[in-house]
Amino acid sequence: MANQPAQNLPNIDLGEHQSLWKEHLELQTKILESVDAKHLFPSNIWQSARKVLDMGCGEGSHLLRIQSQYPDKSYTGIDVDKDVISMAQAKTSEILFLLKDIYSYTPTQEFDFAIARLLIQHLPNLDGFLGFAQACLNPGGTLWVVDGYDELKRIGPKAPLLKAAYDELAKAQKQRGTDRNGSLELVNLAHKHDFRVEQEIIEVLYAERDFSRQVLKRLYEVNTRVIKDRYSLPLDLNAIYAQLDEWALDDAPSTIGVHILTLQKI
Ligand SMILES: C[S@@+](CC[C@H](N)C(=O)[O-])C[C@H]1O[C@@H](n2cnc3c(N)ncnc32)[C@H](O)[C@@H]1O
Repeated sequence: MANQPAQNLPNIDLGEHQSLWKEHLELQTKILESVDAKHLFPSNIWQSARKVLDMGCGEGSHLLRIQSQYPDKSYTGIDVDKDVISMAQAKTSEILFLLKDIYSYTPTQEFDFAIARLLIQHLPNLDGFLGFAQACLNPGGTLWVVDGYDELKRIGPKAPLLKAAYDELAKAQKQRGTDRNGSLELVNLAHKHDFRVEQEIIEVLYAERDFSRQVLKRLYEVNTRVIKDRYSLPLDLNAIYAQLDEWALDDAPSTIGVHILTLQKI
């Protein structure tokens, strides 16, 4: 993948939105691979977990990758978007995928490990989320949260339009009542919902050390196409893609900040 040229995107029309979103989620999984390898898999709580729930599982690529490495656990993924649940189900019969909204689904206390990866920034109500996670987990169960940390997202000087696009996105998300850095707030809310903060980590992932710059370039291309549509942002995609071509040749550091939180149900 690292040496493949990114496909040209400007010709993609809205009808292809679904496949773009799928690609977007798969690229994110690729970019965050090192997070699981470094922080999740070596931990004792992960090693001893038996029943795993992925909340906001998307098209299942993350859960599928985990399941292939740890087939000894049972896995369930839930998501509110029926398109991604269909895509996930088409990928495997080894994982149970359910169409569920965390704000209306009443789960039973059966899981000992719950994952919320890149979910929190899309949620309008974090108390409701923690109440849901509390209801899913056995006593002593673990909630593992991974989300973005924008302060450490360094795009570099060659792509100022991309930086401006993400600033616009953050504003649009705020207007919709969600917060790109919402996972930071969970630490303040955890105790109220009988969770104890076990660990909090800010990880910085570097292009070319932790993932390929070409994969990140493709993610930015797909992502700007998706957010332009989803948030009605006035983005000049051709100008952004032209800057990204320059950016891909630059060797200025390009990083992604990741906020990782381990909460234990008391
Ligand atoms: C950025 S995607 C992350 C997907 C996956 N966790 C990953 O890491 O690749 C966020 C997902 O959360 C889902 N989601 C948002 N609100 C939800 C809700 N209230 N209940 C269940 N899923 C939700 C969205 O449909 C979307 O698939």
